[in-house]
Amino acid sequence: MYLGLDLGTSGVKALLIDAGQKIIGSGHASLDVSRPHPGWSEQNPADWIRACETAIAKLKASHPKELAAVKGIGLSGHMHGATLLDAGDQVLRPCILWNDTRSHAEAAALDADPRFRQLTGNIVFPGFTAPKLAWVKNNEPAVFAKVGKVLLPKDFLRLWLTGEHISEMSDSAGTSWLDVGKRRWSPELLAATSLDERHMPSLVEGTEKAGALRAELAASWGIASGTPVAGGAGDNAASACGMGTVGAGHAFVSLGTSGVLFAANASYLPNPASAVHTFCHALPNTWHQMGVILSATDSLNWLSEISGKKAGELTAELGDVLKAPSGVSFLPYLSGERTPHNDSAIRGSFTGLAHESSRAVLTQAVLEGVAFAFRDSLEALKTAGTDLTRVTAIGGGSRSRYWLKAIATALQVPVDIPADGDFGAAFGAARLGLIAATGADPLAVCTAPRTDATIEPDAALGGAYADAYQRYRALYPAIKGVTA
Ligand code: XUL
Repeated sequence: MYLGLDLGTSGVKALLIDAGQKIIGSGHASLDVSRPHPGWSEQNPADWIRACETAIAKLKASHPKELAAVKGIGLSGHMHGATLLDAGDQVLRPCILWNDTRSHAEAAALDADPRFRQLTGNIVFPGFTAPKLAWVKNNEPAVFAKVGKVLLPKDFLRLWLTGEHISEMSDSAGTSWLDVGKRRWSPELLAATSLDERHMPSLVEGTEKAGALRAELAASWGIASGTPVAGGAGDNAASACGMGTVGAGHAFVSLGTSGVLFAANASYLPNPASAVHTFCHALPNTWHQMGVILSATDSLNWLSEISGKKAGELTAELGDVLKAPSGVSFLPYLSGERTPHNDSAIRGSFTGLAHESSRAVLTQAVLEGVAFAFRDSLEALKTAGTDLTRVTAIGGGSRSRYWLKAIATALQVPVDIPADGDFGAAFGAARLGLIAATGADPLAVCTAPRTDATIEPDAALGGAYADAYQRYRALYPAIKGVTA
């Protein structure tokens, strides 16, 4: 048995697979995001540990024997978070998350230093880790002075699980401190934020062993003490391992809290000007590119909250048949946007509202707005040299057939739906746990699931969607001037 632990923004999932990669069981525990100021987004690392304990306790209750047979553990987590620890590994402040944009001024200042784009292959986005440390230095100097280690969220879980400070390439590529082409920390970039390699965890590949389960936790879960923990991956690279998106030509669209259009690459292909992210993959000698939008299901969840209807109820009101865009447009920039705008100040908007704009029309506009944001990412990936001819859909939002039809039609590429199963980040993490524990060939393990159905672009609505996309494109520059 192998255990995958995924620390997602909305909860922790613990997933058990057997040696043949069959899913045996899972446990889940929810997490909240705290937004103490506009643009801020934080979580308390102690809550991650509690959620992890709850998720594993559920798994233990349903599958005690199988859990006891675990031979390897893999980790995945939301990326970029700054978890700050003192010299005694005590947490210094709440973790500043991937969709927190408070450090936009610090990000712009670091991005203006040409060494950052040159060595990391990426824009320094406000959500990345290095500008957050610059913000803490400027705004909370007493906290900054005590920083002994900076860990990414899943690597904080590793510290709790194993007692070790270790990270891996895919997640570390999102810090703005990694030389992404050479797969090592850049002392130069660390120095630019008044840090050095002693503040960083050591680095392994995602498929390598990175610590062993502590005796105390092992005893309480009934797992063998010393069970290896794999390097694992940032959640997007972990999902890619789960989906078999590991070779050039493979791509997925992820409808989670964030939205990601992810393409695997055989080599390092940086193109920061396109606002595409170019990161190391979890497999050695492999990289990937992705367009990232900050509010995907988060946009629908926002509408759900203000309308008092569950997200599933909102999408059910639309039925399954794709409609022509209504003239109401939605920009999904609730937390600002990364690809293609790199704009932390922009906010979302509805335009074209009329008396007849019902709740269903607003839902339709939200789903279309996110689909058009993915189209922006597709165009950005093309600029960066990666053209996609089909994508596989994953993430909670992919349960809506309507949304997938809108995405296929907005992107003008077929969207594959994997056969029933849970091929997301927790599954990818479990696969990495299996590889680290057994030494299996990563490419033989990270295969693609069977495709259950393919959603083709709607031919009749292609023209209407193309027109609506042009309206959508025109809105950003128009709204930008009037966003506070
Ligand atoms: C990727 C990103 C998000 C988080 C969400 O750059 O910020 O996809 O990883 O979990």
